[in-house]
Amino acid sequence: MKDIRDNARKLMQGFCRVCKVCDGRACAGEVPGMGGLGTAASFQNNVTALAAVKLNMRLLHGNSEPDTSTNVLGLDLDMPVMAAPIGGVSFNMGGKISEEEYTDAVVGGCKDSGVIGCTGDGVPPFIHEAGFKAIADADGRGIPFIKPWEGAELDEKLEKARATGCTCFGMDVDAAGLITLKQMGRPVAPKPVAELKALIAKVHSWNARFILKGVMTPDEARLAVEAGADGIVVSNHGGRVLDHTPGTAEVLPAVAAEAKGETAILVDGGVRTGTDVLKLIALGADAVLIGRPISVAAVGGLRTGVSTYLGTIKGQLKGAMVLTGCGSIADITGRVVF
Ligand SMILES: Cc1cc2nc3c(=O)[nH]c(=O)nc-3n(C[C@H](O)[C@H](O)[C@H](O)COP(=O)(O)O)c2cc1C
Repeated sequence: MKDIRDNARKLMQGFCRVCKVCDGRACAGEVPGMGGLGTAASFQNNVTALAAVKLNMRLLHGNSEPDTSTNVLGLDLDMPVMAAPIGGVSFNMGGKISEEEYTDAVVGGCKDSGVIGCTGDGVPPFIHEAGFKAIADADGRGIPFIKPWEGAELDEKLEKARATGCTCFGMDVDAAGLITLKQMGRPVAPKPVAELKALIAKVHSWNARFILKGVMTPDEARLAVEAGADGIVVSNHGGRVLDHTPGTAEVLPAVAAEAKGETAILVDGGVRTGTDVLKLIALGADAVLIGRPISVAAVGGLRTGVSTYLGTIKGQLKGAMVLTGCGSIADITGRVVF
């Protein structure tokens, strides 16, 4: 990982410092770039909220070889981890690798590691095109996230995504606040429940599942369930859309209390280690998305970089499961948290 990170630091110069701890301090306000919006309080709150979760250590058991595998949204995963959708290599990461090389690294590296990569969307069109190509190349093993476009653009993109062979579709509805899209004059908007319902019904008619990303309150989790979402991502978009939101680990327990079992609960924001993954599962998530560290691994080491990083996460998760007495993902419950 050291070589991969050193290489990324060179290639991402001026866009990401590849800090020892990726906590949103050095890059505050750098959007476009890899930072958080404004003061970056939302990005930093993700990291501090996770750091504040303490774990109960348990050693009097026989779980020395825990099973990290799980099934979420009909997907068999070697561990409850996915790559978060991230796009815009040229204006966010420095463009030393192409968008296609990037999405191939993320989607391919995740497939190689038995998990799944999500792809992002934006302007210009090569962002989603590169993502869709990577998913098609991975025989549909990827989740395309589409922005909450207005009108025909949304339908066209959904149809194009469908052609990749994917079984799940996502929408980052919180991108309605993205300044980068506003700067480019492209309309994205919040989605009323009725509109969402129709959209999800369409995806269901294709025998596919729908994930709504950007849920931060229990009442919106309830609305997502009512609209028919198969999964939600508790996310503040890595702190890139609204300054001063709480950290996702702070809101996750209440969201899970509202909707667990009715929709798959995914979460992202500030996840850097396998121990962070364990914490979020213990707080009620079914799976966890990792953002910036996977970008760094992809730029620094392409497909191998991503699978190497995911190997590290799996090792840490297994270690944390042993030390907290969990033999399986189902064992990771609230009793793990102090
Ligand atoms: C440079 C960058 C680009 C992003 N692009 C997208 C995108 O296209 N679609 C999306 O749903 N989320 C996007 N996100 C948000 C991530 O999916 C994710 O929510 C966030 O990065 C998680 O936080 P973390 O990076 O601290 O792990 C982006 C984030 C970053 C940093």
